[in-house]
Amino acid sequence: MPRTYGRYFEPFAGGAAVFFSMAPRAAVLADRNADLITTYRAVATDAEGVIRRLAIHREAHNEQHYYAMRARWNDAGVAWTPIDRAAAFIYLNRTCYNGLWRVNRSGAFNVPMGRYKNPPICDADGLRAAARVLAQAKLVCADYRTAVADARAGDLIYFDPPYDPVTPTASFVSYTAGAFGPDDQRALATLAHELADRGVAVVLSNSDTPFVRSLYRGLRIDRVRCARAINCNADRRGEVDELIVLGGFATRAARRTVARSSAAR
Ligand SMILES: C[S@@+](CC[C@H](N)C(=O)[O-])C[C@H]1O[C@@H](n2cnc3c(N)ncnc32)[C@H](O)[C@@H]1O
Repeated sequence: MPRTYGRYFEPFAGGAAVFFSMAPRAAVLADRNADLITTYRAVATDAEGVIRRLAIHREAHNEQHYYAMRARWNDAGVAWTPIDRAAAFIYLNRTCYNGLWRVNRSGAFNVPMGRYKNPPICDADGLRAAARVLAQAKLVCADYRTAVADARAGDLIYFDPPYDPVTPTASFVSYTAGAFGPDDQRALATLAHELADRGVAVVLSNSDTPFVRSLYRGLRIDRVRCARAINCNADRRGEVDELIVLGGFATRAARRTVARSSAAR
């Protein structure tokens, strides 16, 4: 990551691990998954309300409660408050198989219950800490292109898209209804090159495949060993090779813009 930057953008937020570890002061955090962004908004505005409801789920948790909540989650007739919906989202994600958020073509969450001894359903301190960082960010439900549309030279974007499958069968890319296929990977790469050319610092992670390497030719590509817990094939869990692509770093023009915009803030 560059040492200085203007605004931080993370347009494929998911669990937003990098956003939470960087805790940027000015950020745009975005994802196409509306339920995820609703959850982040609810945690940012009423963490205590979410914690109270999660404490109820923690007490009620068993197989029957999990499947009742999953059915209720997918029932279009239920009128939720944003806080109830956020607590249900976190509860299901904390207790489902492998912590995986997967939906079918019609958008219904379909992951079975996981087998955990003591799942961390209500991490009150973690939620309060998350609320403090989220409150500093603009939370956006949008496609990644819209989310970064007003990024300027000196800003920093971290792209963590659904990965290019390493094998034809390892093609889990459906976090939301609608997959992220080769054309999407190409469109993302074109945008990343354009942004880097304009002096926006771009950091991008993806799997180490010849296709991904070809898309980012001309930018710096580093290979990293990475621990991966989510894979339907147990043999493939563990360490895998991934790529970190870097572009648009530290041109003089970008540094001047950062200095100016930091001074203005
Ligand atoms: C690899 S995950 C990100 C993981 C994340 N870095 C973390 O720490 O958990 C990819 C995310 O991209 C989102 N996504 C998929 N297609 C998208 C699109 N076209 N625009 C914005 N977000 C998208 C998915 O909903 C998912 O949350």
